[in-house]
Amino acid sequence: MADDPTDDDLRSREWFARQDSYGFIYRSWLKNQGHAARMFDGRPVIGICNTWSDLTPCNGHLRGLAEHVKRGVYEAGGFPLEFPVMSLGEPLMRPTTMLFRNLAAMDVEASIRANPMDGVILLVGCDKTTPACLMGAASVGLPTLVVSGGPMLSGRWKGRTLGSGTDVIRFKEAVRAGTMSLEEFMAAEAANSRSAGACMTMGTASTMAALCEGLGIALPDNGAIPAVDSRRQALSFEAGRRIVAMVGETLTIDRVITRDSLKNAIVLNAALGGSTNAVVHLLALAGRLGIPHTLDDWDAWGRDVPCLVNLMPSGEYLMEDFYYAGGVPAVLNQLRDRLAGHQITVTGRAIAEVNAAAEIHDARVIRTLAEPFKPLGGIAVLRGNLAPDGAVLKPSAASPHLLVHRGRAVVFADSDDLKARIDDPDLPVTPDSVLVLKNCGPKGYPGMAEIGNLPIPPKILKQGVTDMVRISDARMSGTAYGTVVLHVAPEAAAGGPLALVEDGDWIELDVPNRRLHLDVPDAELARRRAAAAPFVSKYARGWEKLYVEHVMQADKGVDLDFLVGSSGPYVDKVSH
Ligand code: FES
Repeated sequence: MADDPTDDDLRSREWFARQDSYGFIYRSWLKNQGHAARMFDGRPVIGICNTWSDLTPCNGHLRGLAEHVKRGVYEAGGFPLEFPVMSLGEPLMRPTTMLFRNLAAMDVEASIRANPMDGVILLVGCDKTTPACLMGAASVGLPTLVVSGGPMLSGRWKGRTLGSGTDVIRFKEAVRAGTMSLEEFMAAEAANSRSAGACMTMGTASTMAALCEGLGIALPDNGAIPAVDSRRQALSFEAGRRIVAMVGETLTIDRVITRDSLKNAIVLNAALGGSTNAVVHLLALAGRLGIPHTLDDWDAWGRDVPCLVNLMPSGEYLMEDFYYAGGVPAVLNQLRDRLAGHQITVTGRAIAEVNAAAEIHDARVIRTLAEPFKPLGGIAVLRGNLAPDGAVLKPSAASPHLLVHRGRAVVFADSDDLKARIDDPDLPVTPDSVLVLKNCGPKGYPGMAEIGNLPIPPKILKQGVTDMVRISDARMSGTAYGTVVLHVAPEAAAGGPLALVEDGDWIELDVPNRRLHLDVPDAELARRRAAAAPFVSKYARGWEKLYVEHVMQADKGVDLDFLVGSSGPYVDKVSH
């Protein structure tokens, strides 16, 4: 394929170059939208995959951004066609958006492959919309470029700054501890979310948007420009221009996302104190692209990378501050000696070159490697008889004094049991206890709930204790914090040892040595296993049934087993 933006080798020519009744149908029906005949002259067709939805408020402004993408596509000589896909709105969907990430990815994959497009822009924002679109696009393999919606403006209330999610968790615990009134709690709502955009802490949405820069699949500054800053519109315009060129360069997603770019993203995630959810999303994405990638890569690549940014939930500033301080390019430039700097990005240039001139403008928000914000970035991958296939913990969000801890288990059988008993004044719990939650993993919940940061019992909060060791097969919100062991694999519902923990068992957490141990004799564990009832899903039909039967464990990225890999972009049959 030549660099000429009009090219008969383009995939879309299989639709639009035809002189028969098929070509008539393909062109004629599209012309009812007012497209001129020259739109079908061999110019690249760019799909704009839009996760806009009123029900995904974090993505509510993406219809507007799509118009800026289209302008860029037209200016570069392409033909933009916007299409909707399933959107996943974290605030509203039940039981959890993660149950539907793979379903949305199937929608994205099928929508791209079935339609006449040569390249695709993924317009994403809220947490799962980014990995879902990337996974779907990866299983097709066209030139692909991500445009994120960007974060909301900082929350402001009573003269103080509010961070999405993080302050909700603080407020909730303050109400439970009796130090905040319900009236104040309700009054803070509007102040918390005061513009379009995604959560403005370094939660999962901002983590994934930033990691798209680390992966090289988005333009510089995609991660942090505020949603309502006009520079977000300009970035969308430039993305539209660039994807047309990428088609000409055959710069497909598999050339951009490689094992080296995964390494770059994981190093970046460590420096950002990014969300633990990124672990399952990148593992799943790697699976779609056939890239060898395991949980151990997270520990190996991120272990010695300090946290450089002072952002909630690990720190105090917000995404708006982060952008003004230099954003993701400034962090990537700090990390230049630790990155696979040669890796090509959607710009067509190497990641080291792209970020070489980026500077830190505010050292309170972005620190240097020489003077990091926290010495421990990264994701600690724990193993032991309680998590044979691994579990994760985010050291930058944990309490240093709890990173080595031995305590007795207080066990909750599932999320319903947790809700029923956590506030019970008679709960037999002390500050040294280890809270254990079962049956909230991929199969058990199903969908791997974001409730791994179990609430601290009120009787403990009233003692002034704000953190305890917590262990589960669940995930936690990227906006959450605490000494929280997550993603225990195998999960309880898949027969993991977590299912065997009983009240009063001793549990040992040793983060420096990456160890998670249930101090119960093997013979006793064998007795418990023999007596345990097998997990039975309550779902007899529909997506939930398919999901529970095919979902893989957290250490494999929670994708469905039959979705791993790619089927390429070609379709060998037509229907008319
Ligand atoms: Fe949508 Fe946080 S809830 S980005």
